[in-house]
Amino acid sequence: MSESPNILEVRKLNAGYGRSQVLFDLEIRAAAKGMVAILGRNGAGKTTLLKALAGELPVMSGDIRFDGRDTVAEPTEMRARRGMGYVPQEQAIFGKLTVRENLELGAILQGRSARIDEVLDFFPKLSLRLAQTAATLSGGERKMLAIGRALLGKPKLLLLDEPTEGVWVGVIEEIADRLVLLSREISLILVEQHVELALRVADHVYVMDRGTVALEGTAAQIRDDPRLLRYLAP
Ligand SMILES: Nc1ncnc2c1ncn2[C@@H]1O[C@H](COP(=O)(O)OP(=O)(O)OP(=O)(O)O)[C@@H](O)[C@H]1O
Ligand SMILES: [Mg+2]
Repeated sequence: MSESPNILEVRKLNAGYGRSQVLFDLEIRAAAKGMVAILGRNGAGKTTLLKALAGELPVMSGDIRFDGRDTVAEPTEMRARRGMGYVPQEQAIFGKLTVRENLELGAILQGRSARIDEVLDFFPKLSLRLAQTAATLSGGERKMLAIGRALLGKPKLLLLDEPTEGVWVGVIEEIADRLVLLSREISLILVEQHVELALRVADHVYVMDRGTVALEGTAAQIRDDPRLLRYLAP
């Protein structure tokens, strides 16, 4: 496999909430294409990391280099405009609006919009639900809508915080298949509680423990590492 240049390089990242520090000298990288999985038990700092990457949380110190530019001081909108997509762990959709309205609004809010029908081709289930309010969607359909909205911004790097949380197992596979397809075109950073799934779909894996990287390697290396269970045990 040829080395693609990194779209994301994070060095010595320290971040947290007020005086409570959560991330400690954290270092990760992501290639221009492919899927990076971030694993770690509850409270390890996975969501905090994605927030810091997306610009929703100011960092205390460290470097974030995204698509060839130092991005640590860039506001969220600038990162989004430059191609960083973010699907937060909490629902990023408007429950009272229909699926179509959610997508239309997403297209307006994103500077570099893809076409809504491209998103519907990507998640055909959504095209059957266009007139339905988002609040009435199943867990899986909601996640598809949230991912679909992020795709409208034509991201080069997509940050996904637990896109299979609360999703029925059959639909989890469907979402995972789509993410694998996507990872052939762009860079994905996937935070995932389903460890088996993450190890199956990711190229590279970081295991976080107490706000820093405890283990890193290819999915095959991490799967065989006896320390994995220790870092994931509650
Ligand atoms: N807004 C906040 N203010 C203060 N502390 C916070 C805030 N959000 C998270 N934390 C703390 O930061 C730590 C890391 O939380 P974070 O949400 O990043 O973990 P996580 O790895 O995403 O966990 P989970 O798997 O449960 O989603 C936790 O100790 C949490 O209590
Ligand atoms: Mg989280």
